[in-house]
Amino acid sequence: MNITVIGSGYVGLVSGTCFAEMGNKVTCVDIDPIKIEKLNKGILPIYEPGLETMVLNNVQYKNLFFTTELNEALQNSEIAFIAVGTPMGSDGSADLQYVLAVAKSIGQLMQKRLIVVDKSTVPIGTADKVKATIQKELDLRNSDLEFDVVSNPEFLKEGAAIEYFMKPDRVVVGTDSDYASEKMKQLYHPFCMSRDRFISMDIRSAEMTKYAANAMLATKISFMNEIANICEKVGADANQVRIGIGSDRRIGYSFIYPGAGYGGSCFPKDVKALTKIAKENGYTAQLITAVEEVNDAQKLVIAQKIITRFGEDLTGFTFGIWGLAFKPGTDDMREAPAIYVIKELVKRGAKIKAYDPKAMHEAKTFYLKDLERIEYFESKYEILKNSDALILLTEWKEFRSPDFEEIKIQLKTPVIFDGRNQYNTFRLEEKGFEYHQIGKSK
Ligand SMILES: NC(=O)c1ccc[n+]([C@@H]2O[C@H](COP(=O)([O-])OP(=O)(O)OC[C@H]3O[C@@H](n4cnc5c(N)ncnc54)[C@H](O)[C@@H]3O)[C@@H](O)[C@H]2O)c1
Repeated sequence: MNITVIGSGYVGLVSGTCFAEMGNKVTCVDIDPIKIEKLNKGILPIYEPGLETMVLNNVQYKNLFFTTELNEALQNSEIAFIAVGTPMGSDGSADLQYVLAVAKSIGQLMQKRLIVVDKSTVPIGTADKVKATIQKELDLRNSDLEFDVVSNPEFLKEGAAIEYFMKPDRVVVGTDSDYASEKMKQLYHPFCMSRDRFISMDIRSAEMTKYAANAMLATKISFMNEIANICEKVGADANQVRIGIGSDRRIGYSFIYPGAGYGGSCFPKDVKALTKIAKENGYTAQLITAVEEVNDAQKLVIAQKIITRFGEDLTGFTFGIWGLAFKPGTDDMREAPAIYVIKELVKRGAKIKAYDPKAMHEAKTFYLKDLERIEYFESKYEILKNSDALILLTEWKEFRSPDFEEIKIQLKTPVIFDGRNQYNTFRLEEKGFEYHQIGKSK
């Protein structure tokens, strides 16, 4: 099939590349000329395991193209995916300006029957707005071209995006058109060969499914973090509680690690947007509001533990940070707990030495750009020299089983604050460490 993917960020680039991998001819479009120029030179704008090789191979096989020219891309396409950002607007709702700008361009430029697919996470009812926007442009052109608008929310997980896209748990497609449904089934068939994972539903339910899925996962995280905070008060160990409840098949082990709160480009904005959607429709989403409040507070729990240990004024103290990305496997720092912890410590006078295997460029260029008293190092052990404590904020594999002897030698005092509860089994206290973790009081 000939496909256009509009927006070549995390979702667009991964989806487009995976469609190309299955033999489709895919053109990825972006308005950012620098991004497209780099992609055409084989330089990827994001880090995602396995993506670079897949992009380079498909470009070589002439299945994958990059351009800023939507007009060119749409010429032969049967399906156009909208995969642009839907960032949080100033009032907390999803900002639809990019999606609707793309819809307008599609209406102005399409030359043949087209299936327009909303892959961006969009509020319920957006497909109607996209449809109306395209139709308005076609009317202005006196065109009677046919088109369908489909909702196909994306559930990929950053850090394992290729794996999730190539072997999805489910493919949700919302449409009221048999023609579009059939085409979407054909497109996704290669990804669902072992068993049918295609779930067809009405458009609004598909749009809602994405928000409900993210809100459910965020709820599990905030629930466990709340339990962890109670554990600390009552002398229980949240990690043992996690194992105790996760063994119940109805609960399961995933998304119940106590930690420094969720971040990333999706959960924070989607949870907020869902609260807003509910409010606009006359419903107060109490539980989902609380999920967000618990998370906001959780991002500062590690900073609070440091303040309790070292004092309100952190002038003269230096802290070594392992992990800046909001989760392992990505360079994405959007809403990462590290941003909040580091800013709080610096505000109180501390110096920071930071290391992350992939996200340091993002930190330096965007998220911690204007921050004073922060230095970045290429080696995780180097940051420990003369640091008063090590703070762990992302569960990268390379932090899982480090050389504790080396850590102890390098640190000024052998203190570890673990925002990800990675070292429960290492008996760090017996190794002479002062070990602070979430969900266990000292
Ligand atoms: N990142 C994720 O893990 C993830 C997972 C599922 C769903 N989503 C959703 O997918 C959508 C995209 O997210 P993302 O993380 O890929 O965003 P992103 O910011 O990484 O990428 C968006 C891209 O769209 C481009 N763009 C903006 N306007 C454009 C236009 N008019 N024409 C062409 N390109 C344009 C931008 O330049 C950018 O490259 C969002 O709605 C997000 O909520 C994201």
